[in-house]
Amino acid sequence: MKVIRSTPARFGRTDKTRMRKQAAELLDRLRRLGGGADGSVTRPVYTPAWNAAMTELERWFRALGLEVWVNAVGSRFGRLRGRNPQVILAGSHVDSVRQGGAYDGTLGVVMAACAVGWLAERCGQPTLTLEVLANCEEESSRFPGNFWGTRALLGAISPGEADRLVDEHGTTIGQAMRECGLDPDRIPEAARSDLVAFVEPHIEQGPVLEAAGASIGIVDRVVGVRQLHVSFVGETGHAGTVPVTRRRDALIGAAELVLAARQLAVQAGTPAVVTVGRLLVSPGGANQIPGVASLSLDLRHTDVEVLERMEGDLRDKAGAIATHHSLVVTTERRLDQPPIECHPTIRRLLEDTATELGHAWTRMPSGAGHDAQLIATRCPSGLLFVPSKNGWSHRPEEETELAHIVAGIEVLAGTLYNLAYNSAWLAA
Ligand code: HGY
Ligand code: MN
Ligand code: MN
Repeated sequence: MKVIRSTPARFGRTDKTRMRKQAAELLDRLRRLGGGADGSVTRPVYTPAWNAAMTELERWFRALGLEVWVNAVGSRFGRLRGRNPQVILAGSHVDSVRQGGAYDGTLGVVMAACAVGWLAERCGQPTLTLEVLANCEEESSRFPGNFWGTRALLGAISPGEADRLVDEHGTTIGQAMRECGLDPDRIPEAARSDLVAFVEPHIEQGPVLEAAGASIGIVDRVVGVRQLHVSFVGETGHAGTVPVTRRRDALIGAAELVLAARQLAVQAGTPAVVTVGRLLVSPGGANQIPGVASLSLDLRHTDVEVLERMEGDLRDKAGAIATHHSLVVTTERRLDQPPIECHPTIRRLLEDTATELGHAWTRMPSGAGHDAQLIATRCPSGLLFVPSKNGWSHRPEEETELAHIVAGIEVLAGTLYNLAYNSAWLAA
């Protein structure tokens, strides 16, 4: 694959100092928006903390000299207009998991803005238009949004979804949008047909880069992710008067499935993973036999056939457990994101730029799901990772060293330079 590449943009000493300061300051501002006493960040979509973060990013995009615009689902964009209206997009999501860290998603927006802001100042108007993406929602941490922000860009939100998806309080995502001054009826306007390429900078969220002593990870493939919701229904009753051998205890069924799910992942071997992140029991009294027990099952693999087999085995196991304990079981698939290969041209540009700039990099798969795996269905997409300290993520201690962040910004700037200023790659 011949990849056209001109000399990438380089940071001088003052650039590096400025990038460190800029990134550190913005990360510090953003982590306070949804910040908890334990250092965690909880910033679900369309909450006041999320609104405040978007307002802060708008301010910052303007300060970088970028044009700011908002789409129908509330994602923010910082545009550097090119001679050609086709868009090279770079960025990530602003929402977070509950009690998560300050870097997941957010750092990708910060890195993209630093890189595009620097290119605007040093290289002037690009050939193709550059846009920084502050994506409204990716984590499904408030609504089962299933990549809500990116599906809006792809025109893949189905009519009526805004009135169907609800949070734990029964608020629909449409109501939450209106509370933020957004109109769910205009969701179709968010669909894009002008995207030419997408690069998502993101923390690795695992231990690979730190173990390899590399600053940069260049992703070759992203795992497929499926999420099931399994509900067992038995019979509630008095904890003191019903013999344990004569119960239809829903939690016993759920517990057996939790252990079976772990066993299934162990037998399937790496990179198979299965996680039960949520388990709800009702009625929930200490002196009441659980009549209903429902659990989430998150299963992942880079091979969609293995993923299919894992889901089939888990469904069969749930049925067998229900029969054995005279329970009724229902299993619903709530998310199905196929695995993807990152585009070879984008990957090569990232790799050649990192090599040219002298940054240690390694090619690797992503065990986390990302917006890039959906946008890859629309245009050439790639993922640029920076290391996570101790491999920690989705927890308050999530952190990436500034030196790695600056290296990532420099590689991103060089790659965006080759994509947007030297569009010969389009003919490659
Ligand atoms: O679940 C994931 O991998 C991502 O954090 N949404
Ligand atoms: Mn995440
Ligand atoms: Mn993320």
